[in-house]
Order: sequence, then C-alpha cells, then structure tokens
Amino acid sequence: MAAAVDKKQYEHLQSLYDAAEELPQSSLYQELVRIGLHDCTGKTIVDLGGGTGLHARNAIDKGAKSVDVVDISPAMLEAGKATERDLGRDDRVRWFVGDMTKPLEDIGLEKEYDISMVNWTFDHAETVTELETMWQNTAALTKKDGRLISVRMVNPKATSSTEGKYGGSFSDFEEIPGGLKYVYHAHIMPLLSFPATTMSESLDFEKSKLIARRYGFTEFKKISEEDTEVVKKDPEFWKMHVADPAFICITAIKAED
Ligand SMILES: C[S@@+](CC[C@H](N)C(=O)[O-])C[C@H]1O[C@@H](n2cnc3c(N)ncnc32)[C@H](O)[C@@H]1O
Repeated sequence: MAAAVDKKQYEHLQSLYDAAEELPQSSLYQELVRIGLHDCTGKTIVDLGGGTGLHARNAIDKGAKSVDVVDISPAMLEAGKATERDLGRDDRVRWFVGDMTKPLEDIGLEKEYDISMVNWTFDHAETVTELETMWQNTAALTKKDGRLISVRMVNPKATSSTEGKYGGSFSDFEEIPGGLKYVYHAHIMPLLSFPATTMSESLDFEKSKLIARRYGFTEFKKISEEDTEVVKKDPEFWKMHVADPAFICITAIKAED
C-alpha cells in the first residue's frame, strides 16, 4: 500500500525516510556528496532542505566545524536533532525551520558559509520563480570562493528510475509550466511516495549552469559515479544508472558576491 502523497508527508513519514536511506541509490548519492565534501575539515556548512541531517552527519564525521540544517518540515528537523543528541554531539549541528522559496534572512542563520549543500531540494521548486529564489538563497549564503554541493534529478524518466532497480521509481509524470511534476516512490514497506517537481532548467546539466552562473557560481563539475566505491564494487549492477543517470551530484564554486 502506498503511503499518503502530499506536501506534509515528511511530517509523518520520517521513520520510513530513515529506511529509504538504506536503499542502493541512497548509498550512491551519500557517497557522491561525501566526495563533493572532500576536505571539509574546519569548514562551516549550510544544508538547505537538509531533512533529518543525513549529509550533515557525514560532514561532521569528515571534520566539518559545524552544519546548519534548514528545512521546511519541523518534524524532519526534530528527528535529526534526536539523532544528533543520541550521538552526544548536539552542539555541532543546528536546526532551522525555513522555506528556501522565501527569503531566509530572518531565521537566524550565519551571514555566509564555506560550503552550501542543496540535495534534492531544487526538485521541490514548483515554479521557475521558486527555483530562482532557491538559487538566490543558496548564493547569498555561500562565501566568495565557497563551494556548492548539490544532488538533483536530471532524468526522472531514466529507464533505471521507471524500473526501480536502485530502490526508487517515478510515476504520474505531468508537464507543468516550466517543468515536470511527478511522484517519487522509495521501495520500502510500505511504499513511501511523495511529489516532486523539477524545472526544465534543472533537467539539463548545461542549462542549469546558466541559472547558477547568474547567481555567481562557476567551475561546475559533475562528480563521476564511476569514481565511487559503491559503483566500483559492482559496476555491472550500476551499469544502467551510469549510462543514463536519473540524478547527478554537482559541485560549483562561488566566484562573485
Ligand atoms: C528528498 S528530501 C532530501 C533531504 C536531504 N537533503 C537528503 O538528501 O537526505 C527533500 C527535503 O527537502 C525539504 N524541502 C522541500 N521543499 C523545501 C523548501 N521549500 N524549503 C526547505 N526545505 C524544503 C523537505 O522537507 C525534505 O526534507
């Protein structure tokens, strides 16, 4: 049976989301983000749409000084907070309720960070204007010469996605002004389904550079899936994803304020 699909679903399904973190695709994107973080020792990080703090924890493990996680869902943040408390280090990650499609100046964040992470959150912009505001917020919070790490969809219709080979699949595609609306299913029991929207600018790596450049980002790199231990361990299994990835992880540098 599919879990309910609505914008508030994260509020109720955090434990299922934890289970989804065990799926093969999650191992891959977690490693891609870890590669993107590479040497983050002593760095300050903001994780926009950071959910339960999956990547925040990885960043702290890799030596980051602190991570500020921003998310629209208080329940996701509360779950992340509890995990950090259990780890006995609740001073290194801070949690902020915030909507990336709105100005973020007043939620108590630092002025700027060494590294910003935006993993899957661009796939929740429902209009081009919302996507622009997300980029604007990301740029404003990233220091000059700071780094952006971002996982996002590039092809929800990739064969691997429709087959669900890596633990996730997509359905109910609907063209909307400026982009594509669809439903993502994480293949756990019960099936965890939630809506996503990816604007056309995001669905193409080259096109996405245009919007990012307008906000001062440069030196775009796509992290190669073939460089991950996950793929190296079983290249045959990952062949379909490598040939036609549904999602990618990019890094970029903030060149201008
Ligand atoms: C697929 S989850 C990814 C969570 C985390 N970035 C990760 O990679 O594990 C998407 C997250 O984006 C959050 N989100 C969606 N729209 C948002 C918005 N406008 N502003 C902030 N967070 C948002 C959701 O609440 C959810 O936690």
